[in-house]
Amino acid sequence: MMKLFNHLILIISLSSLLSFLYSAEAVLSVYSLSSFSKDDQAPVSLPPTTSPAPSESEAPEASPSPASSTIDPAIKKICDRTGYSELCQSSIRPYLTGKTDPVSVLEMAIKACNSSVQAAMAEVNRMMSEPNKDASKTTASQLESCKENYIDAIDSLEKATKAIPTRDMNTFNTMISAVITDCDTCEQGFIEFEEESPLKQYDETAEKIGSICLSISKLLE
Ligand SMILES: *[C@@H]1O[C@H](CO)[C@@H](O)[C@H](O)[C@H]1NC(C)=O
Repeated sequence: MMKLFNHLILIISLSSLLSFLYSAEAVLSVYSLSSFSKDDQAPVSLPPTTSPAPSESEAPEASPSPASSTIDPAIKKICDRTGYSELCQSSIRPYLTGKTDPVSVLEMAIKACNSSVQAAMAEVNRMMSEPNKDASKTTASQLESCKENYIDAIDSLEKATKAIPTRDMNTFNTMISAVITDCDTCEQGFIEFEEESPLKQYDETAEKIGSICLSISKLLE
């Protein structure tokens, strides 16, 4: 019995010695392989070092800001009387006509508001055309509701625009209030379902520009 045990011990220690030798050889061959592949990889790792272009990413930031200082002082004065002077100035910039009277500025502001709702609409259409598999059912149905709200808001903006030439400020204010409510309704839907709104920025901007329109319209009364 003892002899058999000793034999076993011997076999085990021999096999472990063998496997040690094997593994030593394996380590050596892995080492030599890796030193070869390191040489092979050297040219492959070159491209990444040629791609970073820090100068390119800095370029676009420089352009938008300097122009904001050149807005007509009469328009700035009107914008200063809305709650959001900076947003007022930047959002009407694409619609400047050279006129600076409040009615003309109001027409520019309503175009800016239209543009912000159109942007929200474009975003909701983009999201609906590229369904996110991770999105919940409530988010999907909420996007549908928001789209309805935006269609309604765009219609109200049309009616508000038509009310300006006749100075029907009652209709104007009612229509712009409807635009603000539509965008807020979209946001409230997400809050109700405790979902993060993917349209928050769009809705908030449209609501603020709507509020700017109401403030300018007050100057006409
Ligand atoms: C809003 O913008 C759309 C698209 O540019 C345009 O067709 C529409 O006439 C605009 N509505 C108003 C009230 O400016």
